[in-house]
Order: sequence, then C-alpha cells, then structure tokens
Amino acid sequence: MNAKRIALVVAAGAMATLLLAAGVVLRELHGHGAIAPIETSWSASSEQVTRGEYLARIGNCAGCHTARGGEPYAGGNAVNTPFGAVYASNLTPDKATGIGAWSADAFYRAMHEGRSRDGHLLYPAFPYPNISLTSREDADAIYAFLMNRIAPVKRENTAHTLHFPYNTQLALAAWRVLYFTPETFAPNASQPAAWNRGAYLVQGLAHCGACHSARNALGATIAGHAYDGAMMPLNDWYAPSLTARNEASVADWDLAQISAWLKHGISERGAALGPMAEVVYQSTQYLRDDDATAMVTYLKVLPVSETSLAPRASTDRKPETQGERLYGEHCKNCHGDRGEGKSGAFPALAGNRAVTMVNANNLIQVVLAGGFAPATTGNPRPHGMPPYYHVLSDAEIAKILTFIRASWGNDAAAVTELDMAKFRNALRTP
Ligand code: HEC
Ligand code: HEC
Ligand code: HEC
Repeated sequence: MNAKRIALVVAAGAMATLLLAAGVVLRELHGHGAIAPIETSWSASSEQVTRGEYLARIGNCAGCHTARGGEPYAGGNAVNTPFGAVYASNLTPDKATGIGAWSADAFYRAMHEGRSRDGHLLYPAFPYPNISLTSREDADAIYAFLMNRIAPVKRENTAHTLHFPYNTQLALAAWRVLYFTPETFAPNASQPAAWNRGAYLVQGLAHCGACHSARNALGATIAGHAYDGAMMPLNDWYAPSLTARNEASVADWDLAQISAWLKHGISERGAALGPMAEVVYQSTQYLRDDDATAMVTYLKVLPVSETSLAPRASTDRKPETQGERLYGEHCKNCHGDRGEGKSGAFPALAGNRAVTMVNANNLIQVVLAGGFAPATTGNPRPHGMPPYYHVLSDAEIAKILTFIRASWGNDAAAVTELDMAKFRNALRTP
C-alpha cells in the first residue's frame, strides 16, 4: 500500500471508531424510556416498611435528601462537586413533585442504573455507582418505607447549577459509558457469610468508597484504588485511606474498638470528625450488632498498604517549647498532660492517626472550627471541642500542632503557618 492508501484506511478506521463510540453514547442517552406512572397507592407489610427504614439509614438517604431545616426527604440539599452543585431530589410520595407516581420498577432502576423515572440520566453525585449493588429486595423495602412512612411534601426539584459541558445529558452519557456499569453483588464463596454481608454493605448501600476512594479528574473512582483515601471536593476534608496502616485501616483495631467507633462515634483510638461524624450520626450508629460486625469483618481484611508513611520528624528538631506551653494553656484540661485523653469523652492525641497523618487538613480544621463528636445512643451527650480560630493565631496553632505531632511517641512532620493560611480564609468567608 502506498502512503496515501494507508492514510485513507487509518482515517476510515478512526471514523468508524468514532461513529461506534457515538452510537454507544447515544444508546446510553436514549436507549431506555420512561416507566409509566402508577395510579394506585402502593401497600406493603409493616415488616417490609421497618426493614426499609433501617436500610435507608444505612444508605444515609435522608442525609442528602433533606435540606437544612427542610422536611425529611423533600430534597433541595446541594451536593457540591468540582463541576458545580447537584441538588438532591424530592423522595417523598407526592405525586406531582416527588416519587408518588413511581412504581417499584422505576425506583429500582434509579438505584441500580442511575436513571430517573422519565428516562433521563442522573448525576453520580447521587452515589448510584455504589448503591447500584443493592438487591432488588432491599430496594423494594426502601421504596415501601418511603411510600408508606414519609409524608408527601409538594416541593419542585431545585435546578442543578453545573457548569458547561457537565450540565448536558450528552456529557453525562459519555461519562457513564466510560465509568459506570450497573452491577449486582456477587458473593465470594471462599469468604464467610459475615464478610460477604459486610462487603455488600460497605461497597454498596453504605457507599463508604464514595468518600474514601481516590477519584480521577472527571470525578470517577479509579479502578484498583478503592479506599485509597481522597480529598472531599470543596470542603477540604480528607477522607483517609481505609487500607493504609497509618491512616484509617482498622486491620489492627480490635472488633470492639471499631464497632464502638461506628456506633458511638468515639473509641480509645479516636473520634469521628466533620463529615464522618455526620455519617456516624445519620447512619452507622443505627447498625444492628450483626451488621456492624459484618462491616468490620470486611474492613479488617482489606489489603493493607504502608505506602503513605508519614515523613519522620527530623531528629535534630528543636523541642517545640512554645507549642508545649500553649498546649498546656488551651488543650491539656481535656486531652491530658500526656495526650492521653479521657475514655469516652476526649480523644487521646498520643498515638492518634488523626494527629499524625501526613495530610494535616482534618487536624487543622478541627482546631480552627472545633467540633462535636456525634450524638449517639452510646454517647448521647457528646463533649465538644471549642473552636480556636478567633482565640489563637495561625502561628500559635501551627506551634501547638507541631508539638502534638512530635510528642508522647508521635513522630510526624511539623505543621507550618503556611499550611494554615487557606483554612482561616475559608472560615472568614461564610
Ligand atoms: C451523597 C448524597 C446522596 C445520598 C447518600 C443519596 N442520594 Fe439520592 N440523590 C442525590 C442527588 C444529588 C440526586 C439528584 C441526581 C440528579 O438529579 O441527577 C439524587 C437522586 C435520587 C433519585 C432520583 C430521583 C428523581 O426524581 O429522579 C432517587 C430515586 C434517589 N436519589 C434515591 C436515593 C436513596 C434510596 C438513597 C439511599 C439509599 C439515596 N438516594 C442516597 C444524592 C444522594
Ligand atoms: C473542652 C474540651 C476540649 C479542649 C479544651 C480541646 N479539645 Fe480537642 N477535642 C475535644 C473533643 C470532645 C473532641 C472530639 C470532637 C469530635 O469528635 O468532633 C476533640 C477532638 C480533637 C482532635 C481530633 C481527635 C480525633 O480523634 O479525631 C484533635 C486533634 C484535638 N481535639 C486537638 C486539640 C487541641 C490542639 C486543643 C487545644 C488547642 C484542643 N483539642 C482543645 C475536646 C477538647
Ligand atoms: C461523606 C464522606 C464519608 C463517607 C460516606 C464515609 N466516610 Fe469515613 N471518613 C470521612 C472523613 C472526612 C474522615 C476523616 C475524619 C475522621 O477521622 O473522622 C473519615 C474517617 C474514617 C475512619 C478513620 C477512623 C480513625 O479515627 O482512624 C474510618 C475507619 C472510616 N472513616 C470508615 C468509614 C466507613 C466504614 C464508611 C462507610 C460506612 C465511611 N467511613 C463512610 C468521610 C466519609
């Protein structure tokens, strides 16, 4: 073949590939239609409704689908993404503005395939890439709960404020062709039943990976990097790696410690903070003992990596005497002389990974903004940590943090005034 013919063949091949790709995207876009609305209201057994209520808690559906100060499940809450805000929908059984006219088939399709009743594609800010694994039976129970237990609320869905081109169904269809295939949970026969139950919940309904898994520039989780840790978009919290020993791996926690942490939000090993405190408050505190044990069984045997070991503090570092003095003045009363904390009330800072992690974002935020451990039945009146942004300067906080990262056996690098700067600005602008 001469060069011209080769060029022609290559061009024809490229054209064919493009057309094929366009065909796949268009099929994603238009291949599935609306599911007919239902007329009659849907009834279910009270057992199914109760099970649905429990499962909805594990999925934290209310956490996203309830606006601050709004009616439960009536939607309107913004889920912020790097591409703009996506507003959670009205899931109350109102016929006109909620899911009152949805059949169980339409509801399952939304959870499993991320497609609304009228056929339009849903944004993965609704974590259906995880929730897809939920069984038909469990989806039906959640549907039964929403249709029978939640009061209908008339509230039109809020329009999303995504930037171009992310606001188009075509871009979403292309994204889905690349990154999403509906999946059902396939149990692993070589693992015990508890592991399988835990895998089903953690990977699916409880969508732990939605925050803890690393993502690419288009917001899709990266295959092979499940639970590797990720910055949460736009709020500067870091969801630590569930596989790294020095971040959030629970491989060497005992069962009681991690179950207590999931159900009470606090254990000798640390407290749940920020967005994780909300997950505990809204969701994991309600776990039945058998499901908590199942989750832990799965989490404990996730492969463990040592890759993100913190750089050691340099050995010739000067003792942080000013930091020590400030710690004595502001922190010692609660966290103890030697960072030992107080069981069930104030987390220990000695040996606490929230203190020593390479990524100091969470540490800085908890000291600037303070926080409450979540209120749970196991810890109904949690103690609070006061905010310090108006009490201490950046330089002072950096000194305290440098001190606690290098004391009582802790051995992590210093926090600098520069590390602090962007957080204080974020606190100042509401
Ligand atoms: C992290 C936040 C988040 C969680 C958790 C979440 N959702 Fe959503 N959900 C959303 C957002 C945002 C949308 C809107 C997506 C869109 O319009 O493209 C949505 C849309 C939906 C829809 C489609 C509604 C419609 O009118 O098309 C259904 C059904 C739904 N969610 C059910 C659930 C259920 C059931 C759960 C719990 C198992 C749940 N969601 C948990 C954020 C969430
Ligand atoms: C009035 C008691 C009190 C004081 C004073 C206090 N803390 Fe706390 N601290 C708490 C409580 C309660 C929590 C758990 C908060 C949560 O879960 O959101 C906490 C959490 C923390 C955490 C996160 C630990 C974890 O396991 O995630 C760090 C780090 C911390 N405090 C450091 C400090 C520093 C540094 C100071 C002084 C500048 C200080 N605290 C002063 C009560 C206090
Ligand atoms: C909305 C985002 C989000 C979701 C969903 C989420 N996490 Fe987290 N998680 C975080 C953040 C942020 C932190 C860091 C703050 C802290 O230490 O509490 C964290 C911390 C943790 C830790 C560290 C504990 C410690 O102190 O070392 C564990 C373990 C954990 N999460 C497990 C889970 C499990 C299991 C699930 C699912 C049931 C889950 N997370 C769901 C955001 C999330």
